[in-house]
Amino acid sequence: MEITKVAVIGAGTMGNGIAHVFAQSGFKVNLIDVNQGSLDRALATIDKNLSRMVAKDKISESDKDAALSRIQTFTDIKSGADSVQLVVEAVNENFDLKTKIFKELAEVTSEETILASNTSSISITKLAGVVKERSEKVIGMHFFNPVPVMKLVEVVNGLDTSDETYEVIENLSKKLGKTPVYVNDAPGFVSNRVLMPMINEAIFCVYEGVATPENVDEVMKLGMAHPMGPLRLADFIGLDVCLDILRVLYDGFADPKYRPCPLLVKMVDAGKLGDKTGEGFYKY
Ligand code: CAA
Repeated sequence: MEITKVAVIGAGTMGNGIAHVFAQSGFKVNLIDVNQGSLDRALATIDKNLSRMVAKDKISESDKDAALSRIQTFTDIKSGADSVQLVVEAVNENFDLKTKIFKELAEVTSEETILASNTSSISITKLAGVVKERSEKVIGMHFFNPVPVMKLVEVVNGLDTSDETYEVIENLSKKLGKTPVYVNDAPGFVSNRVLMPMINEAIFCVYEGVATPENVDEVMKLGMAHPMGPLRLADFIGLDVCLDILRVLYDGFADPKYRPCPLLVKMVDAGKLGDKTGEGFYKY
């Protein structure tokens, strides 16, 4: 199957990054969000990130204009998704919301359309279960932030995902300049099963007074060559997202080793979610 037109659902950090890389790689993109303000902000972010690439001579001004001209925005799923060959869902990490969207997608898209989710931890098999008649077309296509920079796409098959669907997504990821890596469907896949316990442990170090956030991050940057310390990274990802993923791990494995640190829970309750709210472990 030849993919030329995709829909991306959700215009947040991941959604706008995913729309950016598809448009830059020559695909037509329908970016869908219920909130027109989010769509406007997403277009402004994509414009800014493309301009940054122009300034660094990675792309030309006309490449930038061409990429922007390939993106159209929509506030309803039906008009944005009915004529595409692939949908990448990138809404919040909330199973009920994803379920609602997948059910609607199964109704408005053609039977051939692949339904991918950028979920960072929710089971692809469980998501596919809500659209049983289409489950062979459901797959995990997990991108990393900042999407235009990070090379990885973690590709996850559900129990029923067909080999054909997998091959289309593997080849497509390469066309986007990314490296697809296959992992089996398990809570948190590989990326977040390894990353989130590290972030959670870094938060416990602060909670127990072992070190300040700055010093925890210095240890991991200078001692382990991480580009960002785990607490800076947690702010960058969003503390609410980190908490959601830890809860998926905790529930999915029924194992107390994934218990979210009480300090993380408190910070999310206080609305200190990191970069996006101006304060997390650091102030922005
Ligand atoms: N769009 C386009 N280009 C961007 C960009 C964006 N949004 N953000 C950064 N860049 C480019 C910069 O232009 C720069 O390009 P050059 O190398 O050509 O100069 C390059 O990326 C590096 O950026 P900076 O120089 O501004 O800053 P930096 O060197 O500190 O790097 C970083 C920034 C790339 C974010 C780096 O700190 C990093 O890799 N951090 C770790 C990020 C990470 O772990 N992401 C995964 C999070 S987990 C996730 O997303 C999934 C999940 O499920 C939770």
